[in-house]
Amino acid sequence: MIGTANGRPISITGLGAHVPDRVLTNDDISRLVDTTDEWIMERTGIRERRIAAPEEAMTDIALPACRRALESAGVEPGSIDLLIVATVTPDMTFPSTAALLADALVMPDAAAYDLSAGCTGFMYALAQAYAMLAGGLAKRALVVGGDVLSKILDWHDRSTLVLFGDGAGAVVLEMVETGGFLGFELGADGAGGVSLWLPGSGSRHFEEPDRLVKMNGREVFKFATRVLVSSAEKILAECGRTVDEVDVYVPHQANVRIIDHATRRLGIDPERVVVNVDRYGNTSSGSIPLALDDARRDGRLAPGKLVLMTGMGAGLTWGSSLIEWTEEMAA
Ligand SMILES: CC(C)(COP(=O)(O)OP(=O)(O)OC[C@H]1O[C@@H](n2cnc3c(N)ncnc32)[C@H](O)[C@@H]1OP(=O)(O)O)[C@@H](O)C(=O)NCCC(=O)NCCS
Repeated sequence: MIGTANGRPISITGLGAHVPDRVLTNDDISRLVDTTDEWIMERTGIRERRIAAPEEAMTDIALPACRRALESAGVEPGSIDLLIVATVTPDMTFPSTAALLADALVMPDAAAYDLSAGCTGFMYALAQAYAMLAGGLAKRALVVGGDVLSKILDWHDRSTLVLFGDGAGAVVLEMVETGGFLGFELGADGAGGVSLWLPGSGSRHFEEPDRLVKMNGREVFKFATRVLVSSAEKILAECGRTVDEVDVYVPHQANVRIIDHATRRLGIDPERVVVNVDRYGNTSSGSIPLALDDARRDGRLAPGKLVLMTGMGAGLTWGSSLIEWTEEMAA
């Protein structure tokens, strides 16, 4: 799917993020499995990640992020009429994490549902919320992206354990005068799905409920480097913009090598790229909103700035969006 945002102008007017307190360093991981800080740094650029406490689930990580986003937008929770939560680690399959969050935040008028598109979930959720607002179905949306992947990782598998972390981010979307979202490009390739999957998590492998993540790292690496570039190029062309116009590039935070490759191929000035994978690892649906929040703290998200976001992940899926930032947000 590809298209320009031709409806009424919709933008991100509030932003918040949250990560669990517990830091797990590469040295900590090297005491659990056969790996080293040097190997992890060289192959991934990840130094440490945050890990949820045993009693913490997705709603616990998402709630503080939602509260910060609502506060930063200066809006009451009760005024939200659409809540989408992008996650592959909901508290449980049902009730949805979105319904639980809407209750906890007291949003009686909100349509609330979860969305599953792997690490690309936040990009899919942004597109859906944009369309519902631009089409006049909803007036103010809260879009959450987050995951607690530590709960579904195989803690004996060094090839996946080192890559992921827990975290969530949230944004408020509403109508603005001008600017805001310019377009979206989203895609999926189910044939590649077995490269990154959770086979026993649903109705298929029910007899052998293997509920831990499995990944073919090399295949995912090839896929990631390809789609980060192609998706960004497509959305720029669709919106009639060039790479030189991009002020802030927010790629999915999977791995420094993947980000560097995409940045080089696209020809984006490295100073315009947001990178925090070194501190958080790959937080799946939380990755792009967490990176946006870092860009806000750095003072990079000022009105008029052109922001390019691209996600990719399980599915296999990918998705990009261009947004002309409209809000002044406190650092
Ligand atoms: C996972 C990844 C870092 C592995 O790097 P790589 O250079 O492809 O490494 P390989 O998988 O080829 O493995 C090379 C060797 O390192 C070993 N290895 C794997 N993980 C290791 C670890 N944590 N520590 C030490 N050695 C490790 C492998 O067993 C292999 O050993 P062998 O040659 O004796 O068989 C890389 O493939 C990658 O980043 N893929 C993308 C993953 C991703 O981003 N997934 C999420 C997308 S949303």
